[in-house]
Amino acid sequence: MSDTYDLIVIGGGPGGYVAAIRGAQLGLKTACIEMRETLGGTCLNVGCIPSKALLESSHHYFRAKHEFAGHGISFSDLSFNLADMIKRKNEVVSGMTGGVEFLFKKNKVTWLKGIGSLVKPGLVKVTAKDGTAVDYVGKNIMIATGSEPIAIPAAPFDHELICDSTDALNWSSVPKHLVVVGGGVIGLEMASIWSRLGAKVTVLEALDKILGPMDRGISTALQKILEKEGITFELSTLLESTKIKGASVGLTAKKDGKTVEFEADKVLVAVGRRPYTERLGLLDAGVELDARGRVKIDTHFKTNVPGIYAIGDAVQGPMLAHKAEEEGIAASEGIAGKAGHVNYEAIPGVVYTWPEVASVGATEEDLKAKDVKYKKGQFNFRANGRAKAMGDSEGFVKVLADEKTDRLLGVHIIGPNASELIGEVAIAFEFGASAEDLARAVHAHPTLTEAIKEASLGVDGRMIHS
Ligand code: NAI
Repeated sequence: MSDTYDLIVIGGGPGGYVAAIRGAQLGLKTACIEMRETLGGTCLNVGCIPSKALLESSHHYFRAKHEFAGHGISFSDLSFNLADMIKRKNEVVSGMTGGVEFLFKKNKVTWLKGIGSLVKPGLVKVTAKDGTAVDYVGKNIMIATGSEPIAIPAAPFDHELICDSTDALNWSSVPKHLVVVGGGVIGLEMASIWSRLGAKVTVLEALDKILGPMDRGISTALQKILEKEGITFELSTLLESTKIKGASVGLTAKKDGKTVEFEADKVLVAVGRRPYTERLGLLDAGVELDARGRVKIDTHFKTNVPGIYAIGDAVQGPMLAHKAEEEGIAASEGIAGKAGHVNYEAIPGVVYTWPEVASVGATEEDLKAKDVKYKKGQFNFRANGRAKAMGDSEGFVKVLADEKTDRLLGVHIIGPNASELIGEVAIAFEFGASAEDLARAVHAHPTLTEAIKEASLGVDGRMIHS
């Protein structure tokens, strides 16, 4: 007789492991299937956490090299040891993944190690590394299998010269010329790391702007700042083919109808991720997918098959760890008979370049396209005392509010610590705040948050410091 669980979560990433912990907290006998050697999924193992560790290290080096002198600090013999940087990154990762394993034990979640797939509704097979397979009965089954990098025929991965983001977290030397295909979130974060460490970096982007879905004002500002730091951008440039020539790669692309060529010693392909929904037996179990391979769900994360749920990158919506976590929690709460809910209007998006970019809500382009009348306030960090004191005053905050009701519609930040600043904005959205609410709230002085207050005052044309 197979073991029976109230909830079996397939996938131990931020969506899945959080869902499993929440399910166990609510008294469900819960198991989580994970095929990696460690828990935490893409985010903890090869995504958010390791990239942030390297972004932090490379930023320290960059600041020491280019900015400390401005603070009156001088020294000689500045250098870095890449192996040590990577080692530190790996230690950060293992600390985090080990932490999830501890949380599983604490919450009595069983980790079923191996590849999970559906045999039929209510029955899951776990195939271990040695090939042995065991079936488990799941009264409820949650697909939380995440996503994987998209491979394009124009640049097939060999993981040596043509790499994905996982490879780019472990290079043993700094590339001389790195060509990044895709000016999205991953492309820009990786371009930042390697450029700061001394690589010449060229970003090829098919669209006419980097960070496609972000507010155009923000993406233009970020591009200019990154260009000043030495990154080259080739916009409206679609990669067509690559050719490996010994230790380098020749790239051919189309730019404004013309053929352009590049030569690189490393290529990073970061053209998006696709849901990991194949090889899971979903079709055998009768679970419907949409045209983009995502599991179709209703507003309660239920698939068309009773007892099977799906969340995170495997379903529609932004591929973000925090979105997956909230969905996992809400789905488990629903399974346990509670009323889980995710507010999709208040999901922050962050790009961890420097300056950082962070936003919640609609862009100006979105509002114009929908013919929504809005008011706008914009405040530059160069008029913010704390930013000046930090010596980090590039960027701005843009607040967009409904012309009639003043309700916040979108807030976009490019600036120091934008990833942390966006927290107050997400809360404001959660509470349905107006720009006036943000403008009237007392913000400590001197802090970067005052820029949000000022931009909110700007919606009403009454900024004090600009
Ligand atoms: P993305 O969708 O953000 O960007 C991919 C870019 O590649 C697009 O701008 C696209 O126009 C361009 N592109 C596609 N094909 C091309 C070609 N042949 N030639 C030139 N350009 C081409 O995807 P990315 O950066 O790979 O990230 C994947 C997912 O991971 C995203 O959904 C992102 O939200 C998530 N992520 C989030 C992070 C964060 O929250 N900080 C960090 C890393 C990833």
